[in-house]
Amino acid sequence: MFKEDQNLTWILRCVEKFPGACLRWIWGSKVFIQVYDPDYMKVILGRADPKADIYRFLTPWLGHGLFFLNGHKWFEHRRMLTPAFHYDILKPYVEIMADSVQVMLDKWEQISCQDSTLEIFHPVSLMMLDTIMKCAFSYQRQCPIGQGNSQSYLQAVSDLSNLMISRMKNVFLHNDIIYNLTSHGRRTNSACQIAHEHTGFVYSSVSAPLTTPELAMASQYRVVKLRKAQLQDKESIEKLRGKRCLDFLDILLFSRMEDGSSLSDKELRAEVDSFMFGGHDTPASGISWVFYALASHPDHQQRCREEIQSLLGDGSPSHGQLALQDGHSFRHHLHQMPYTTMCIKEALRLYPPVPCVCRELSSPVTFPDGRSLPRGITVVLHFLCPSPQPKSVAKSRGCLILPGLQWILPNTAMLSCPSLEDQVNCIGKQLAMNALKVTVALTLLRFELLPDPTRVPIPIQQLVLKSKNGIHLHLRKLNSATGDHEGV
Ligand code: HEM
Repeated sequence: MFKEDQNLTWILRCVEKFPGACLRWIWGSKVFIQVYDPDYMKVILGRADPKADIYRFLTPWLGHGLFFLNGHKWFEHRRMLTPAFHYDILKPYVEIMADSVQVMLDKWEQISCQDSTLEIFHPVSLMMLDTIMKCAFSYQRQCPIGQGNSQSYLQAVSDLSNLMISRMKNVFLHNDIIYNLTSHGRRTNSACQIAHEHTGFVYSSVSAPLTTPELAMASQYRVVKLRKAQLQDKESIEKLRGKRCLDFLDILLFSRMEDGSSLSDKELRAEVDSFMFGGHDTPASGISWVFYALASHPDHQQRCREEIQSLLGDGSPSHGQLALQDGHSFRHHLHQMPYTTMCIKEALRLYPPVPCVCRELSSPVTFPDGRSLPRGITVVLHFLCPSPQPKSVAKSRGCLILPGLQWILPNTAMLSCPSLEDQVNCIGKQLAMNALKVTVALTLLRFELLPDPTRVPIPIQQLVLKSKNGIHLHLRKLNSATGDHEGV
């Protein structure tokens, strides 16, 4: 499955040779321990070790936001940002997501024809970016440069991921001064600039759409100031709440640290950049791989479709629109899709959107089998290729064993394995799950998904799990009245 990605090939070979963990030498006395045994991972995730130092390569882009903070500062930011993901805040997002998905599906309907395949990763990423901008930043799509700006942002994110991975692997590029003199360093700087222009544009579009990214960039702090002025006390918040839902940016601006101070502009920027990235790229990866998994398992796809049809109707304009217009019942239906939810989790287990995370051991650790590691070691936890285990062992470890759903191996992954799920500290987990369910439900009502055997995706480990050759699927439009294929 992973044969053409060198890094993955290397790790898979290690998994076969050294079940549990192995060592990767970087330079001098610096080594990374690659961990793929689920029991070892559980021990590490249960500790509060700081995030690894190599993440610092991402700070020119994402600043010092939640992703990279540690200790008390992390705790304070996390406490401030958690209300932005409260159940009530996420509620209205479901309809916004559904709107964005329908726009994407309308386009797919226009361009898909019987014999052609469609690369889905890119349009899904655009759709998720659009969704997160509307939900978290109250961005209005009418802005004239929205589409082009989003395209260049996605390209910049992809460049930054590639550059970061190659910098991690090359010790000569670790020094900042040397790196900035190289072509890689220059490309990183210009990609960072494009990504920052995009978030600047989001700030600006809140008050008045601007026509160029440069203008947007220049005025971002003015717009933040404007929002700050709107959100000075509880009364003004209530007034704003009457006009529109509070979004992520409102909550960020209104929240206070323990000493009563608010986030500085630099900290605010870091959180906005982090959420813009984490909020679109990981769910986009999840959705695309779930589509691929469902396309590869048509019987499971059909069972999901039948479950969704039993809740939302047959997907005909009247039924579909009714289900969507009544936001309350649509949200309610999201919690009533047990089989679809299981399939989503199974696909995320096989293709975890975040393939690995890194930690720096702050104290020695001893694993259940008695082996131990000293403090100061960097460990890389590989969710993508955990060591295979017999079903009985997986069950005793609390992994989700789904009857009839063992698509490959009963190994573990964060979102599908209850014992690990609680320990992976993703603040956007619920938002992501909603996005996955909305997208899968609405898509399966309108299309049958089929794989393209001539272009099997090749997973590659970037910051999120991508495919080297994209994800190509046949989309067969369903007849809304009967659920049958049209014209086939
Ligand atoms: C399928 C979708 C998602 C997956 C698989 C996922 C996975 C993860 C994982 C594994 C971590 C832990 C990283 C570490 O410990 O080093 C994490 C952290 C984080 N995620 Fe997600 N994520 C998803 C969606 C989202 C969304 C939608 C958002 C924001 C809107 C988000 C924002 C974050 C943030 C800010 C952190 C850092 C949290 C902290 O350290 O306190 N994620 N995510």
